[in-house]
Order: sequence, then C-alpha cells, then structure tokens
Amino acid sequence: MPKPALPMKPTGWFQVAWSDEINVGEVHRMTYFDLDMVAWRAQSGTVSVMDAYCEHLGAHLGHGGTVVGEVIQCPFHGWQWNSEGRNVCIPYEDRPNRGRRIRTYPVVERNSSIYIWHDTEGREPYFDVPDIFADFHDGRSAADYYPQARLFRTRLQIHPQYVLENGVDFAHFKYVHQTPIVPLFTRHDFDTPVSYVDFTITFEGDEGQIIDDVNSGVEAINGGLGVAVTKSWGMVDNRTISAITPVDDYTSDIRFVVYIGRVPGDESEKAQRKAQEFAQMVIDQFAADIEIWQHQRYTLRPALATSEYDGFTAFRTWANQFYPDSPAQLHPAAAQHD
Ligand code: FES
Ligand SMILES: [Fe+2]
Repeated sequence: MPKPALPMKPTGWFQVAWSDEINVGEVHRMTYFDLDMVAWRAQSGTVSVMDAYCEHLGAHLGHGGTVVGEVIQCPFHGWQWNSEGRNVCIPYEDRPNRGRRIRTYPVVERNSSIYIWHDTEGREPYFDVPDIFADFHDGRSAADYYPQARLFRTRLQIHPQYVLENGVDFAHFKYVHQTPIVPLFTRHDFDTPVSYVDFTITFEGDEGQIIDDVNSGVEAINGGLGVAVTKSWGMVDNRTISAITPVDDYTSDIRFVVYIGRVPGDESEKAQRKAQEFAQMVIDQFAADIEIWQHQRYTLRPALATSEYDGFTAFRTWANQFYPDSPAQLHPAAAQHD
C-alpha cells in the first residue's frame, strides 16, 4: 500500500465513536493515529479517551478493564486511573503513584458523536468542533429532525483532506452527484481554523437552467480537517456531519450522518418513510464521493483549470496549518497554474 502524500497526523478534532456506542460503565477499544486507545464512560456520564496501556505493567485497559464510579480499573493488578489519566489508587499500597499518568485526549461529545483533539505537539484545543445545530444560529435542534441516519466505513485509503477539498471542487458535483448544472460558490471563508463554504446547488431541473435562478443551496462549516457540518436550504431539509479520522499512516475511518427535518404536524408513517428514503439518497451521494476518494492519488501539483485555481489555493493554504510536522512540502506554490 503506498503512503498517502499528505501526513496522516493532522491537528484538530476527530470523531472516534458515536455516543450510543459507549454506555455508562462501558470500555470501548479503538485505534486512531496509530495509537491504541480506550474510551470509557463514567457513572456521571463523562466520556474519557486515553491511551490503552496501563502505566503500571502495560495491560490493555480495553481487555477486561472496568469502570468503577469515575475511574477505570486495570484488569491486571487493580490500579485505578481517573479521567485525567492520573493514578488514584494502588489497591495494595497506602497511596497512589501521583506522578504517573496515562496520556489522555481532550474530548467533546456533541451531536451524538464523540470527538477527540489530536495534536502531535501536545497543544490544547485552539478551535471548537462545529455543532450541527447551534452553529447555524437558526434556533433549530435535534428535536426538529428525525434520528440520525448513518454511514460508517472503516480503514479506507482516504486522507481527511480529500473530503474537505470537495468544498471548493465545484466541477465534481455534476459528474459524481449528477447535478444538472455546476453549483455556484457564494462564500469561501478560510480565515480561521474553522472555515465556511456556501454554495447554490440544485439536483432538480435540466441543463438549460441558469445557476443564478436556482433557489436552493448548502452552507458548510469545516472544523479543521476532521469534521464538517452542512445545512441545506430551499430543498428537503437536511443536515449532515462528515467525519474522517486517520487510523494509521495509510487509512482512515469515515463516519457520515444525515438528519432529515420533521414536517411540523406530520407524524405519519409515510412522512417517516419518505425521510428515510431521502436520508438514504444523501448517504448514497456521499458513498459516490467515497468511491472516488478511496482510489484517488493526492496530487501535489494539480493541473487546475483557471476557474478552480483560487478556490483550491485558498483551501490548500488553509489546510496547511493542520500539519505542524511538514508544512513546507504542502505549500500551495507547488500547485501549478497555467
Ligand atoms: S498493569 Fe495495570 S495494574 Fe498492573
Ligand atoms: Fe462530493
């Protein structure tokens, strides 16, 4: 398997699970960023994510570790570790080993997802994970939507940046998503680690229409490279979360969520069925992207069309900030313009 051209250890927020995968008292195993980790939910409901191996003699806490109140207990000798990864109890000693700590990751639980902050330099989070409801400031909440429809694909050869690059790639919509005409981007705001992309798009009508006459679109908020949320307007009310998390130096897990808006006053089975069908259509569109991404080779010097140049350059310049280890090789000057 060839290594991707982009580093697989970017900085930012990345989804590692869905909330309902980790109930109170449960310990969940996972591997992300080439590290074995555990996520566990304390009695209070708080989720902690930490490296999987006990700092005593290295037992894997995800194989027999148990949640005891607010701490996790190692299956090997019963040492207990709190949500900060600190040792709080050695059952056969008077006092814990206060100096020893298991590495933990900042966690945000939001929109039924569990996100961790990853930064190879160990910096604290310096931006927030987008919230699919609050960040669109329209007073809507999960109660206005049907339960999430989900897609989960694991260990695909996809780099997180491929997914977000869709946000400037207007031409692919017509070919991958069968839109009758190419969308029009109305906002590209790449000034901060959280970026904003809005576009006018339609899936209806024929090639003869003019994009300026189209009255529907999508607003996207990208929280770094790992998480993007979208809201649609002027079409079936839908919102999505796409989350891409590197597993190792070659592959990523992809999670995609669709919310379909409830029609106020219509609790019928028919409305529910229609919502499910539409959610599946949105998921199918995302799966069509995945089909491209998982076979794509990232191109450092793409042969961009003139109309693509500004968007891609702005996007790639923005993306560079999330690679503390190797920004130079990714400089957008490498992109060719002819
Ligand atoms: S290895 Fe965890 S308590 Fe000994
Ligand atoms: Fe796409």
